[in-house]
Amino acid sequence: MKTYEIATIDGDGIGPEVCRATVAVLAEACGARLRFVPLDGGAGHYARTGEVLPETTFEACRRADAILHGAAGLPEVTYPDSTEVGNDLHLRLRFRLDLYANVRPIRLYRGAMSPLAGWGPGRIDYVIVRENTEGLYASRGAGTNLRGEVATDTLVMTRRGVERVARFAFELSRQRSGAPRDGRRRVTVCDKANILRSYAFFRAVCQEVARDYPDVELDYAYADAITVHMLKKPDFYDVIVAENMFGDIISDLGAGTVGGLGIAASAELGERHGLFQGAHGSAPDIAGQDLASPVATVLSGALMLRWLGERHGDAALVQDAARLERAVEAVLGAGEVVPRDLGGNASCSAMTEAIRRALG
Ligand code: IPM
Ligand code: MN
Repeated sequence: MKTYEIATIDGDGIGPEVCRATVAVLAEACGARLRFVPLDGGAGHYARTGEVLPETTFEACRRADAILHGAAGLPEVTYPDSTEVGNDLHLRLRFRLDLYANVRPIRLYRGAMSPLAGWGPGRIDYVIVRENTEGLYASRGAGTNLRGEVATDTLVMTRRGVERVARFAFELSRQRSGAPRDGRRRVTVCDKANILRSYAFFRAVCQEVARDYPDVELDYAYADAITVHMLKKPDFYDVIVAENMFGDIISDLGAGTVGGLGIAASAELGERHGLFQGAHGSAPDIAGQDLASPVATVLSGALMLRWLGERHGDAALVQDAARLERAVEAVLGAGEVVPRDLGGNASCSAMTEAIRRALG
Protein backbone atom coordinates (compact mmCIF):
# COMPACT_ATOMS: atom_id res chain seq x y z
CA MET A 1 0.00 0.00 0.00
CA LYS A 2 1.41 3.42 -0.91
CA THR A 3 2.16 5.70 2.03
CA TYR A 4 2.02 9.48 1.92
CA GLU A 5 4.06 12.13 3.66
CA ILE A 6 1.87 14.94 5.01
CA ALA A 7 3.58 18.14 6.10
CA THR A 8 1.63 19.73 8.96
CA ILE A 9 1.91 23.34 10.07
CA ASP A 10 -0.05 24.01 13.27
CA GLY A 11 0.40 27.81 13.04
CA ASP A 12 -1.18 30.22 15.50
CA GLY A 13 -4.25 30.64 17.71
CA ILE A 14 -6.60 27.68 17.30
CA GLY A 15 -4.36 26.34 14.49
CA PRO A 16 -2.52 23.80 16.70
CA GLU A 17 -5.77 22.44 18.17
CA VAL A 18 -7.63 21.97 14.89
CA CYS A 19 -4.56 20.68 13.06
CA ARG A 20 -3.76 18.09 15.73
CA ALA A 21 -7.43 17.08 15.91
CA THR A 22 -7.39 16.49 12.17
CA VAL A 23 -4.17 14.49 12.34
CA ALA A 24 -5.83 12.25 14.96
CA VAL A 25 -8.90 11.77 12.76
CA LEU A 26 -6.84 11.11 9.62
CA ALA A 27 -4.73 8.58 11.53
CA GLU A 28 -7.97 6.84 12.55
CA ALA A 29 -9.17 6.85 8.95
CA CYS A 30 -5.96 5.84 7.17
CA GLY A 31 -3.67 4.37 9.79
CA ALA A 32 -0.01 4.07 8.87
CA ARG A 33 -0.65 5.09 5.25
CA LEU A 34 -0.15 8.72 6.27
CA ARG A 35 3.15 9.85 7.79
CA PHE A 36 2.90 13.30 9.39
CA VAL A 37 5.82 15.73 9.50
CA PRO A 38 5.15 18.61 11.96
CA LEU A 39 6.74 21.92 10.86
CA ASP A 40 7.21 25.40 12.28
CA GLY A 41 5.78 28.61 10.88
CA GLY A 42 3.41 31.49 11.50
CA ALA A 43 3.20 34.73 13.42
CA GLY A 44 4.26 33.24 16.76
CA HIS A 45 7.29 31.67 15.13
CA TYR A 46 8.11 35.02 13.52
CA ALA A 47 7.85 36.76 16.90
CA ARG A 48 10.33 34.25 18.35
CA THR A 49 12.73 33.89 15.42
CA GLY A 50 12.06 36.61 12.84
CA GLU A 51 10.95 33.97 10.30
CA VAL A 52 7.28 33.41 9.36
CA LEU A 53 8.09 30.59 6.91
CA PRO A 54 11.51 29.00 7.65
CA GLU A 55 13.24 27.69 4.51
CA THR A 56 13.40 24.26 6.17
CA THR A 57 9.61 24.32 6.47
CA PHE A 58 9.19 25.42 2.85
CA GLU A 59 11.51 22.69 1.57
CA ALA A 60 9.68 20.04 3.64
CA CYS A 61 6.35 21.28 2.25
CA ARG A 62 7.74 21.17 -1.29
CA ARG A 63 8.88 17.56 -0.83
CA ALA A 64 5.73 16.33 0.93
CA ASP A 65 2.78 14.72 -0.83
CA ALA A 66 0.40 17.29 0.72
CA ILE A 67 0.32 20.05 3.33
CA LEU A 68 -2.19 20.29 6.19
CA HIS A 69 -2.37 23.65 7.94
CA GLY A 70 -4.21 24.78 11.07
CA ALA A 71 -4.36 28.57 10.82
CA ALA A 72 -1.89 31.44 11.00
CA GLY A 73 -1.93 35.04 12.16
CA LEU A 74 -1.85 37.04 15.38
CA PRO A 75 -3.27 40.57 14.99
CA GLU A 76 -0.57 42.08 17.15
CA VAL A 77 2.24 40.69 14.99
CA THR A 78 2.45 43.04 12.01
CA TYR A 79 5.02 44.38 9.55
CA PRO A 80 5.99 48.07 9.61
CA ASP A 81 3.44 48.63 6.79
CA SER A 82 0.74 47.38 9.21
CA THR A 83 -0.06 44.25 7.19
CA GLU A 84 -0.22 41.04 9.21
CA VAL A 85 2.85 38.79 9.35
CA GLY A 86 0.96 35.51 9.88
CA ASN A 87 -0.80 35.69 6.54
CA ASP A 88 2.60 35.59 4.85
CA LEU A 89 3.06 31.96 5.90
CA HIS A 90 0.06 31.12 3.83
CA LEU A 91 0.60 33.54 0.97
CA ARG A 92 4.25 32.59 0.46
CA LEU A 93 3.27 28.90 0.24
CA ARG A 94 0.55 29.81 -2.26
CA PHE A 95 2.80 31.87 -4.48
CA ARG A 96 5.99 29.77 -4.25
CA LEU A 97 4.19 26.44 -4.74
CA ASP A 98 1.94 28.04 -7.39
CA LEU A 99 -1.30 26.86 -5.77
CA TYR A 100 -3.46 28.55 -8.36
CA ALA A 101 -6.87 27.04 -7.62
CA ASN A 102 -8.39 27.70 -4.19
CA VAL A 103 -11.29 25.24 -4.01
CA ARG A 104 -13.99 26.15 -1.50
CA PRO A 105 -16.97 23.78 -1.28
CA ILE A 106 -20.18 25.44 -0.11
CA ARG A 107 -22.40 22.59 1.06
CA LEU A 108 -25.25 22.47 3.56
CA TYR A 109 -24.71 19.41 5.75
CA ARG A 110 -27.35 17.70 7.88
CA GLY A 111 -27.08 19.18 11.35
CA ALA A 112 -25.79 22.54 10.12
CA MET A 113 -28.38 25.31 10.14
CA SER A 114 -28.48 27.71 7.21
CA PRO A 115 -29.51 31.27 8.12
CA LEU A 116 -31.45 31.20 4.82
CA ALA A 117 -35.02 30.17 5.58
CA GLY A 118 -36.29 27.00 3.94
CA TRP A 119 -33.04 25.49 2.65
CA GLY A 120 -32.34 21.88 3.62
CA PRO A 121 -29.29 19.62 3.37
CA GLY A 122 -28.12 18.98 -0.19
CA ARG A 123 -30.08 21.94 -1.61
CA ILE A 124 -27.03 24.15 -1.30
CA ASP A 125 -24.08 22.38 -2.87
CA TYR A 126 -21.66 24.32 -5.04
CA VAL A 127 -17.94 25.05 -5.20
CA ILE A 128 -16.20 28.42 -5.40
CA VAL A 129 -12.95 28.21 -7.37
CA ARG A 130 -10.88 31.23 -6.44
CA GLU A 131 -7.88 32.16 -8.54
CA ASN A 132 -5.17 32.04 -5.87
CA THR A 133 -1.90 33.48 -7.19
CA GLU A 134 -2.63 36.82 -8.89
CA GLY A 135 -5.52 39.29 -9.09
CA LEU A 136 -5.37 41.94 -6.40
CA TYR A 137 -3.21 39.66 -4.23
CA ALA A 138 -0.39 39.99 -6.74
CA SER A 139 0.27 43.29 -5.03
CA ARG A 140 0.90 41.75 -1.63
CA GLY A 141 4.01 43.54 -0.34
CA ALA A 142 4.24 45.59 -3.54
CA GLY A 143 1.63 48.28 -3.05
CA THR A 144 2.56 51.91 -2.53
CA ASN A 145 1.92 54.36 0.26
CA LEU A 146 3.23 57.74 -0.79
CA ARG A 147 3.93 60.08 2.08
CA GLY A 148 0.78 58.95 3.85
CA GLU A 149 -1.27 60.72 1.18
CA VAL A 150 -1.78 58.22 -1.64
CA ALA A 151 -1.83 54.43 -1.52
CA THR A 152 -2.20 52.01 -4.43
CA ASP A 153 -2.34 48.27 -5.09
CA THR A 154 -2.44 46.87 -8.61
CA LEU A 155 -4.75 44.11 -9.80
CA VAL A 156 -2.90 41.72 -12.12
CA MET A 157 -4.52 39.28 -14.56
CA THR A 158 -2.50 37.07 -16.90
CA ARG A 159 -3.85 34.93 -19.72
CA ARG A 160 -2.04 31.90 -18.27
CA GLY A 161 -3.43 32.57 -14.79
CA VAL A 162 -7.03 33.03 -15.90
CA GLU A 163 -6.97 30.22 -18.43
CA ARG A 164 -5.75 27.57 -16.00
CA VAL A 165 -8.18 28.47 -13.21
CA ALA A 166 -11.08 28.61 -15.67
CA ARG A 167 -10.11 25.20 -17.08
CA PHE A 168 -9.92 23.88 -13.52
CA ALA A 169 -13.46 25.13 -12.89
CA PHE A 170 -14.88 23.52 -16.04
CA GLU A 171 -13.12 20.23 -15.33
CA LEU A 172 -14.49 20.30 -11.78
CA SER A 173 -18.02 20.87 -13.05
CA ARG A 174 -17.66 17.82 -15.28
CA GLN A 175 -16.80 15.74 -12.20
CA ARG A 176 -19.92 16.92 -10.35
CA SER A 177 -23.58 16.15 -10.95
CA GLY A 178 -24.71 19.71 -11.61
CA ALA A 179 -26.56 22.36 -9.63
CA PRO A 180 -29.16 21.13 -7.10
CA ARG A 181 -31.87 23.24 -8.77
CA ASP A 182 -31.78 21.62 -12.19
CA GLY A 183 -28.89 19.15 -12.32
CA ARG A 184 -27.24 21.32 -14.97
CA ARG A 185 -23.45 21.45 -15.09
CA ARG A 186 -22.78 25.17 -14.86
CA VAL A 187 -19.76 27.43 -14.42
CA THR A 188 -20.62 30.94 -13.27
CA VAL A 189 -17.97 33.57 -14.00
CA CYS A 190 -17.98 36.13 -11.19
CA ASP A 191 -16.41 39.44 -12.26
CA LYS A 192 -16.96 43.17 -12.78
CA ALA A 193 -16.54 43.07 -16.55
CA ASN A 194 -18.99 45.94 -16.95
CA ILE A 195 -16.63 48.33 -15.18
CA LEU A 196 -12.97 47.25 -15.37
CA ARG A 197 -10.92 46.04 -18.34
CA SER A 198 -9.09 43.49 -16.18
CA TYR A 199 -12.37 41.79 -15.34
CA ALA A 200 -13.55 42.08 -18.96
CA PHE A 201 -10.28 40.26 -19.81
CA PHE A 202 -11.02 37.65 -17.10
CA ARG A 203 -14.46 37.04 -18.62
CA ALA A 204 -13.15 36.92 -22.19
CA VAL A 205 -10.53 34.28 -21.33
CA CYS A 206 -13.15 32.25 -19.46
CA GLN A 207 -15.36 32.43 -22.57
CA GLU A 208 -12.50 31.11 -24.70
CA VAL A 209 -11.99 28.18 -22.33
CA ALA A 210 -15.75 27.53 -22.24
CA ARG A 211 -15.68 26.66 -25.96
CA ASP A 212 -13.88 23.42 -25.02
CA TYR A 213 -16.78 22.50 -22.68
CA PRO A 214 -20.02 22.68 -24.70
CA ASP A 215 -21.58 20.29 -22.17
CA VAL A 216 -21.14 22.80 -19.34
CA GLU A 217 -23.41 25.86 -19.25
CA LEU A 218 -21.57 29.20 -19.06
CA ASP A 219 -23.16 31.71 -16.70
CA TYR A 220 -22.12 35.19 -15.57
CA ALA A 221 -22.67 37.22 -12.43
CA TYR A 222 -21.20 40.54 -11.38
CA ALA A 223 -19.48 40.38 -7.99
CA ASP A 224 -22.08 42.62 -6.35
CA ALA A 225 -25.09 40.87 -7.86
CA ILE A 226 -23.83 37.39 -7.00
CA THR A 227 -23.98 38.23 -3.29
CA VAL A 228 -27.76 38.57 -3.65
CA HIS A 229 -28.08 35.46 -5.86
CA MET A 230 -26.07 33.39 -3.32
CA LEU A 231 -28.75 34.24 -0.76
CA LYS A 232 -31.85 34.05 -2.97
CA LYS A 233 -31.01 31.15 -5.31
CA PRO A 234 -28.06 29.20 -3.87
CA ASP A 235 -29.33 25.99 -5.48
CA PHE A 236 -28.69 27.51 -8.91
CA TYR A 237 -24.93 27.27 -8.51
CA ASP A 238 -22.64 24.38 -9.42
CA VAL A 239 -19.18 25.96 -9.81
CA ILE A 240 -18.33 29.67 -9.47
CA VAL A 241 -14.94 30.92 -10.74
CA ALA A 242 -13.62 34.27 -9.51
CA GLU A 243 -10.53 36.45 -9.31
CA ASN A 244 -8.55 36.25 -6.06
CA MET A 245 -10.06 39.12 -4.05
CA PHE A 246 -13.62 38.51 -5.19
CA GLY A 247 -13.16 34.81 -4.42
CA ASP A 248 -11.92 35.64 -0.93
CA ILE A 249 -15.01 37.72 -0.25
CA ILE A 250 -17.76 35.56 -1.77
CA SER A 251 -16.34 32.36 -0.25
CA ASP A 252 -16.89 33.75 3.24
CA LEU A 253 -20.43 34.76 2.29
CA GLY A 254 -21.00 31.27 0.89
CA ALA A 255 -19.67 29.70 4.08
CA GLY A 256 -22.05 31.91 6.06
CA THR A 257 -25.02 30.49 4.16
CA VAL A 258 -24.17 26.89 5.20
CA GLY A 259 -23.23 27.35 8.83
CA GLY A 260 -20.17 29.59 8.95
CA LEU A 261 -16.40 29.44 8.64
CA GLY A 262 -16.24 26.72 11.29
CA ILE A 263 -17.51 24.28 8.66
CA ALA A 264 -15.77 25.80 5.60
CA ALA A 265 -13.09 23.59 4.05
CA SER A 266 -10.50 24.63 1.49
CA ALA A 267 -8.10 22.93 -0.88
CA GLU A 268 -5.42 25.09 -2.50
CA LEU A 269 -4.14 23.20 -5.51
CA GLY A 270 -1.39 23.58 -8.07
CA GLU A 271 0.04 21.20 -10.67
CA ARG A 272 2.20 19.39 -8.09
CA HIS A 273 1.27 20.59 -4.62
CA GLY A 274 -1.82 20.85 -2.40
CA LEU A 275 -2.40 22.85 0.79
CA PHE A 276 -5.44 21.98 2.88
CA GLN A 277 -6.90 24.01 5.71
CA GLY A 278 -10.16 25.31 7.12
CA ALA A 279 -11.12 28.63 5.53
CA HIS A 280 -11.37 30.23 8.97
CA GLY A 281 -8.67 32.24 10.70
CA SER A 282 -6.63 31.69 13.86
CA ALA A 283 -9.34 32.95 16.28
CA PRO A 284 -6.77 33.87 18.98
CA ASP A 285 -9.58 34.87 21.37
CA ILE A 286 -10.58 31.23 21.87
CA ALA A 287 -7.13 29.67 21.43
CA GLY A 288 -5.95 27.02 23.90
CA GLN A 289 -9.38 26.57 25.53
CA ASP A 290 -10.49 23.45 23.63
CA LEU A 291 -13.38 25.53 22.24
CA ALA A 292 -12.59 25.57 18.50
CA SER A 293 -14.43 23.34 16.05
CA PRO A 294 -12.12 20.99 14.10
CA VAL A 295 -14.83 20.37 11.48
CA ALA A 296 -13.52 22.74 8.77
CA THR A 297 -10.00 21.33 9.05
CA VAL A 298 -11.24 17.73 9.18
CA LEU A 299 -13.35 18.32 6.03
CA SER A 300 -10.24 19.87 4.44
CA GLY A 301 -8.43 16.67 5.41
CA ALA A 302 -11.09 14.73 3.52
CA LEU A 303 -10.47 16.97 0.47
CA MET A 304 -6.77 16.11 0.86
CA LEU A 305 -7.43 12.36 0.89
CA ARG A 306 -9.60 12.64 -2.22
CA TRP A 307 -7.01 14.79 -4.02
CA LEU A 308 -4.18 12.38 -3.14
CA GLY A 309 -6.30 9.36 -4.06
CA GLU A 310 -7.24 10.77 -7.46
CA ARG A 311 -3.69 11.89 -8.23
CA HIS A 312 -2.17 8.53 -7.37
CA GLY A 313 -4.97 6.26 -8.57
CA ASP A 314 -5.45 5.16 -4.97
CA ALA A 315 -9.12 4.14 -4.76
CA ALA A 316 -8.80 3.18 -1.10
CA LEU A 317 -7.82 6.74 -0.20
CA VAL A 318 -10.74 8.16 -2.21
CA GLN A 319 -13.01 5.82 -0.25
CA ASP A 320 -11.42 7.00 3.01
CA ALA A 321 -12.24 10.58 1.99
CA ALA A 322 -15.90 9.70 1.46
CA ARG A 323 -15.96 7.71 4.71
CA LEU A 324 -14.56 10.73 6.58
CA GLU A 325 -17.12 13.11 5.09
CA ARG A 326 -19.91 10.67 5.98
CA ALA A 327 -18.56 10.43 9.54
CA VAL A 328 -18.63 14.22 9.93
CA GLU A 329 -22.14 14.39 8.50
CA ALA A 330 -23.30 11.55 10.79
CA VAL A 331 -22.01 13.38 13.86
CA LEU A 332 -23.54 16.70 12.80
CA GLY A 333 -26.79 15.00 11.74
CA ALA A 334 -27.11 13.09 15.05
CA GLY A 335 -27.10 16.44 16.82
CA GLU A 336 -25.69 15.02 20.08
CA VAL A 337 -22.14 16.36 19.78
CA VAL A 338 -22.45 19.79 18.17
CA PRO A 339 -19.67 22.41 17.97
CA ARG A 340 -20.24 25.84 19.46
CA ASP A 341 -20.29 27.65 16.10
CA LEU A 342 -23.24 25.47 15.09
CA GLY A 343 -25.21 26.16 18.26
CA GLY A 344 -23.86 23.36 20.50
CA ASN A 345 -21.35 23.22 23.31
CA ALA A 346 -19.01 20.43 22.22
CA SER A 347 -15.31 20.99 22.80
CA CYS A 348 -12.69 20.49 20.12
CA SER A 349 -11.65 17.21 21.72
CA ALA A 350 -15.25 15.99 22.06
CA MET A 351 -15.91 16.72 18.35
CA THR A 352 -12.69 14.95 17.44
CA GLU A 353 -13.57 11.85 19.45
CA ALA A 354 -17.12 11.80 18.05
CA ILE A 355 -15.80 11.88 14.47
CA ARG A 356 -13.22 9.19 15.25
CA ARG A 357 -15.96 7.00 16.76
CA ALA A 358 -18.20 7.60 13.75
CA LEU A 359 -15.32 6.48 11.51
CA GLY A 360 -14.96 3.30 13.53
C1 IPM B 1 -8.47 33.04 3.23
C2 IPM B 1 -7.85 34.04 4.16
C3 IPM B 1 -6.49 34.41 3.59
C4 IPM B 1 -6.73 35.28 2.37
C5 IPM B 1 -5.55 35.09 4.55
C6 IPM B 1 -5.40 34.23 5.80
C7 IPM B 1 -4.18 35.24 3.88
O1 IPM B 1 -8.71 35.16 4.31
O2 IPM B 1 -7.78 32.04 2.97
O3 IPM B 1 -9.61 33.27 2.77
O4 IPM B 1 -6.83 36.51 2.50
O5 IPM B 1 -6.80 34.69 1.29
MN1 MN C 1 -10.62 35.00 3.40
